Order: sequence, then C-alpha cells, then structure tokens
Amino acid sequence: MDFSPTEEQLMVQKSARDFALREVAPRAKELDKKGIWPADLVQRMAELGFLGMAIPSEHNGGGLDAVSYALALEEISAACASTGVIMSVNNSLYCDPVYKFGTDWQKKEFLDPYASGEKLGCFGLTEPMSGSDAATMATFAERDGDHYVINGSKNWITNGPFANCIVLFAMTTKGIGHKGATAILVPLDAQGVTRNHHDDKLGIRGAHSCTIFFENVRVPVTHCLGGEGNGFKVAMATLDGGRIGIAAQALGIARAAFEKSVAYSKERKSFGVPIAQHQAIQFKLADMATEIDAARLLIWRAAYLKDKGVRHSAESAMAKLFASEMASRVAHQAIQVFGGYGYSTEFDVERHYRDARITEIYEGTSEIQRIVIAANALKG
Ligand code: CAA
Repeated sequence: MDFSPTEEQLMVQKSARDFALREVAPRAKELDKKGIWPADLVQRMAELGFLGMAIPSEHNGGGLDAVSYALALEEISAACASTGVIMSVNNSLYCDPVYKFGTDWQKKEFLDPYASGEKLGCFGLTEPMSGSDAATMATFAERDGDHYVINGSKNWITNGPFANCIVLFAMTTKGIGHKGATAILVPLDAQGVTRNHHDDKLGIRGAHSCTIFFENVRVPVTHCLGGEGNGFKVAMATLDGGRIGIAAQALGIARAAFEKSVAYSKERKSFGVPIAQHQAIQFKLADMATEIDAARLLIWRAAYLKDKGVRHSAESAMAKLFASEMASRVAHQAIQVFGGYGYSTEFDVERHYRDARITEIYEGTSEIQRIVIAANALKG
C-alpha cells in the first residue's frame, strides 16, 4: 500500500499552496469580515486552471485526477474556506455532472466555458421546504412541446448570485417520488429567472449564496441532463463527488486552525514557559494532528476510488462526515489554545471555527452521511 502522492499530484499541491499563500490568505480576513465575493480570486483560479481541474483538457479542464483536486482544495481552503467552496461547487457540483451525463452538444455549450472558468456554474437541489429529503422537491418542469416550462425556487445556492448556469433539479412527473425528478441545464439569464440578495451567513461569508426563483422559465428539452426521470440519480452521483470536495475543504480549515495553534503555543507563555510545554496543550495538539491525518486518509481513499471509477458513496460519506465534524472539533480546540485571543476577531481561529460549521450541513448533513453509510453497511 502506497500512500505517497505522485510527482504530478505533488506539483498540483505545490502550485495550489503557492497561490493560496501568496494571493488567497492575505485576503481571507477582509472577505470574511465584509462578506465580499472574491471576484479577483475567482478570475485567478480560472487562469490557474483550478475551476475545472478533473475535466479532460479537450473540454478546457485540467485533466487531473480527483486526488489532485482534493489536494488543491485543501490548500486553498486552508487559506480561505469561502474561496475553497466557490472552487468546489464549480468543479464538483457543476462541471462533473455535465461531463458525466452531458451530450456532446451540452458539453460544448455548458461545460467547455465553465471548465475553463470563463463562466461559473451552480447546483440547484435544495428548496425552502426540501433539504435532506431531496425527493420532495416542488419545483416543476412541465413539458410544452419541445420545451420545459419551469416554476419553483431553489435556495442556499452557492455561487448563485454570479453563476451563468445552474444544474437544476425539478419534477417532470408528479406522484412517483424520486423517479419523477429530472436534471435540467438552465442558463441564469433566461427570462423568468430572478435571484434574491445574497444570504448573510455565520461563516464562509465571501462565498455568496442566494435563493433563485423560476417563473414560467422556458428551456428547450435538449437541456435535459442525463435523461428524464434520472434527476435523483444524477444528484446523488454528483454529491458522491461533491462530498469529497467538502471533506477536503473541512480538512483545509482544520489544518489552518491546527498550524496556527502550534505556532501560537510556542510563542505564548504562561506559568513562566511557552504553553507548548504544558501537557494540557500538547495533548490537544496531539489529538488535532491525529484527527487531521485520519480525515486526510479517508479523503484520499474516496478520491482514489472515484479515480478508479468505483462506486464510492459510502467512502465519500465517511470522509465528509468525519472531516467536517473533525474540523469543528479542531477549530474548537484551537480557540481553547488561543484562550481569550481565540475569541477575538483579531486572530483567524474564530473564522475557522465559524467556517467549519457549514461543512457539517451542506452537501448532506452529518445525519444524511450516517444514513448513506448505514444503508451501505446494512446492504451486506
Ligand atoms: N448514485 C447513484 N444512484 C443513487 C445513489 C448514488 N450515490 N444513491 C441513491 N441512488 C439511487 C438508488 O439506487 C435508488 O434508485 P432506484 O429507485 O432505481 O432503486 C434511488 O437513487 C433512491 O435511492 P434511495 O432509496 O437510497 O434514496 P432515499 O430517498 O432513501 O435517500 C438520501 C436518499 C440519502 C436521504 C438523499 O435524499 C440525500 O442524499 N439527501 C441529502 C441531499 C443533499 O445532500 N443536499 C445537499 C444540497 S447541495 C448543496 O448543499 C450545495 C451547496 O450549496 C454547496
């Protein structure tokens, strides 16, 4: 068993780390404090090839594997979790399903300019009254000749305020549960689409999300992604990949909180010595380091299976469940190491603590991950 990344994976990691340290980290505090969308960093990620990393180069992507993607996302999220999730949504939740399920025409129209980062995509599954129980979505796409007429709304749509297109999930048949759901590519400049102001959130405050309303939006049936009635499976298969991205984001947040705790513990003195010399602090650092490594191994395994083309629903769910809850625990302990200063907005650890929290909720709550893992275990 070889746990060492390849030369290529290490190069990707290094280029992401350089970009994260030089360009992303210096901006993170301000983006968070003022809730600013990092338009310039999104542009830079496009230039550097971080917005369509695992899409083949013939579609303007980076042609890299899922492990490289996870490595890059960890680095960028360690600097700024908001920038990390913007990258994650375009890669995992938008480009990935269009690549996997799209027709040649759809790929030309709805993948190539998105994998290059010229345009930005988003993913619309959640609704005001349908979150974990995704199959209860109410947005309806009624067939009218060779068009769908879409009515409904989607909320918490990360990248929503700036995205050019959404992979929208809507019911095309009522009364048959998840088998009535269809994925449709909806350009967000279509008539009848309106977007609310962006959501004001506890964390990832630079990654803007919003509610999007669809009122009699007409879209040709050629925009149907993956076949009518297959929308639920498109969503679930997409989330299998997306959850690796969120796990990598959580890992980055945790690593940042840990590294800052290590540095601070060597500087800050109490009872006449640096606090790093107290076993109370050493034990915290030991637990943090162990949990971070455990999460990383779960993420690498899930990404490795994705690269092999093996179904990885349970492994992605385990990676996301453990990494997200771990990030909250690690950020909590980081504040404890920093003491009163950790509670102050002067230091970064309170931002990491707030940013970590969402990773336990979006792309499937921890409870949903446990359902997926248990269902897999009980299948025998
Ligand atoms: N891949 C392919 N197909 C899958 C699948 C997968 N991973 N998981 C399930 N399916 C298929 C099943 O085979 C089944 O197909 P058949 O009917 O042909 O047998 C069908 O889908 C239904 O499966 P289940 O019976 O397992 O579905 P369920 O309704 O019992 O449970 C759930 C599903 C796990 C609870 C699911 O609804 C779920 O994951 N909910 C959470 C939704 C979620 O993650 N939302 C996040 C929104 S995105 C977001 O947060 C974006 C952002 O801004 C960052």
